[in-house]
Amino acid sequence: MTDFNHSEIEEYCISHSSPQSSLLCELERKTLLRSVYPRMISGALQGRFLAAVSQMVQPYTILEIGTFTGYSALCLCEGLKPGGRLITIDNNPEVETLARSFFERSDYNQQIEFIIDDAARRMEMLMPPFDLVFLDADKENYPRYLKLASRLLNKGGWLLADNVLWGGHVLDASHKNQKETKGVVLFNQMLANDPQYQVVMLPLRDGLTLARKIC
Ligand SMILES: C[S@@+](CC[C@H](N)C(=O)[O-])C[C@H]1O[C@@H](n2cnc3c(N)ncnc32)[C@H](O)[C@@H]1O
Repeated sequence: MTDFNHSEIEEYCISHSSPQSSLLCELERKTLLRSVYPRMISGALQGRFLAAVSQMVQPYTILEIGTFTGYSALCLCEGLKPGGRLITIDNNPEVETLARSFFERSDYNQQIEFIIDDAARRMEMLMPPFDLVFLDADKENYPRYLKLASRLLNKGGWLLADNVLWGGHVLDASHKNQKETKGVVLFNQMLANDPQYQVVMLPLRDGLTLARKIC
């Protein structure tokens, strides 16, 4: 097979997917210009995938762990049932103004609850059920988030987790003691071996896992 450049493949996939809205385009641009770590944003391809999953699931309740500038939250909202809600949590107050300004300009402002807090602390306080949970915050805490999300998810609900390949470090012994790598590796093992879930790990971008809670 021809050795394609990874970013060329991503560009080809983006150009053969439905375009993101002009609001998401503007948010992506502003994130790239203003943020210290712009690469944290889901971006066009993963964003269209999150929106497609949400449209298939048609959740009434969504929980997102790791808001950043609000891009993935707005993509996930595209599948919300009428009257449904998305709760998104981030512990960094510096992301608040930009994310809130885009939530306010979107069609989903009334459906979004944006909480600035530590994710695990707040997850312990939330009441089930959630139909879809998206994990995209600090990787060292992924195993903890899995336990907390399992309590909150409905039977038949969906768990999505980003960065499950962690830049390939999950396969690299020289990174095995790094706390983020340890967190992702343990999370991947726990989820793959948990009989409550049907799991598929996709090599989309930095790795995205979809898991259905079956009991
Ligand atoms: C990869 S970014 C999220 C990207 C966003 N989901 C998107 O696709 O546009 C991770 C976010 O998790 C947040 N975060 C890190 N540790 C956290 C914690 N303990 N509790 C809540 N949020 C946390 C960071 O502040 C950061 O904004």
